[in-house]
Amino acid sequence: MKKAILLESVSKKYEVGSSSLEVIKSLTFDVNENEFVCIVGPSGCGKTTLLRLVSGLEPPTSGRILIFGDPPDPRKQRFGVIFQEDSLLPWRTVIGNVKFGLELQGYKESEHEKIARTYIELVGLQGFENYYPHQISGGMKKRVAIARALAINPDLILMDEPFADLDAQTRSLMQRELLNIWSKLNKTVLFITHNVEEAVFLAQRVFVLTKRPSRVKQIINIDLPYPRARLSPPFISYRERILTAFHEELEGI
Ligand SMILES: Nc1ncnc2c1ncn2[C@@H]1O[C@H](COP(=O)(O)OP(=O)(O)OP(=O)(O)O)[C@@H](O)[C@H]1O
Ligand SMILES: [Mg+2]
Repeated sequence: MKKAILLESVSKKYEVGSSSLEVIKSLTFDVNENEFVCIVGPSGCGKTTLLRLVSGLEPPTSGRILIFGDPPDPRKQRFGVIFQEDSLLPWRTVIGNVKFGLELQGYKESEHEKIARTYIELVGLQGFENYYPHQISGGMKKRVAIARALAINPDLILMDEPFADLDAQTRSLMQRELLNIWSKLNKTVLFITHNVEEAVFLAQRVFVLTKRPSRVKQIINIDLPYPRARLSPPFISYRERILTAFHEELEGI
């Protein structure tokens, strides 16, 4: 079976003025269809850059990326991307924001309303369709971003620290809901986070990246059934293992 995501010796360098910055170096990994993978790595190591490469927004400097066997191309594959920064359009309502993704993908206008309502319900926002972003909470905004990403029936869901700015309770609620949605929709998810506990709670596999230029330092299979108990001894021992690898990379940043 074709891998959902395949990276072979991928490198990325940025040229700024006369200097060059090597952000990603010889990065190799793969993600299976329907798999949930979390990526953790130090700040500035190139995680957002990696998502931009995987979604075809930028080309790698060298190496090869394949999405279900083909090079990434936003015109050919559908990427449901949830960005690190808030990305809702402030002048559009909740339903208007969800429809925006469908418009970009060229869905027939007659279908927009029904599809948008289906996904708004899936993320638990029914009743808020006509609210504007400034009238809803941070957690609700993330739900809108998730609904917008899912509504286009994406081949891949790419999430860049989506819950980082939420309070602890909302964050753990959103994590549980994301797992519910993932188990219903059977999608491939690449989820970036700084939070090791979040990675152990969500992922089937966790990739720990090195500091810049980033490579894969370690891949950890989280062999625990869902839903996971954060206080159980095996959960804690996975967390400690990943934290150790992660902290080694933080030294000397
Ligand atoms: N378009 C660009 N041009 C030049 N340099 C860039 C560009 N985009 C990113 N960089 C540099 O690449 C490095 C990695 O940035 P990136 O945003 O991928 O890191 P990150 O791992 O997502 O960090 P964080 O955890 O803080 O979100 C940074 O040093 C950044 O300055
Ligand atoms: Mg980032």
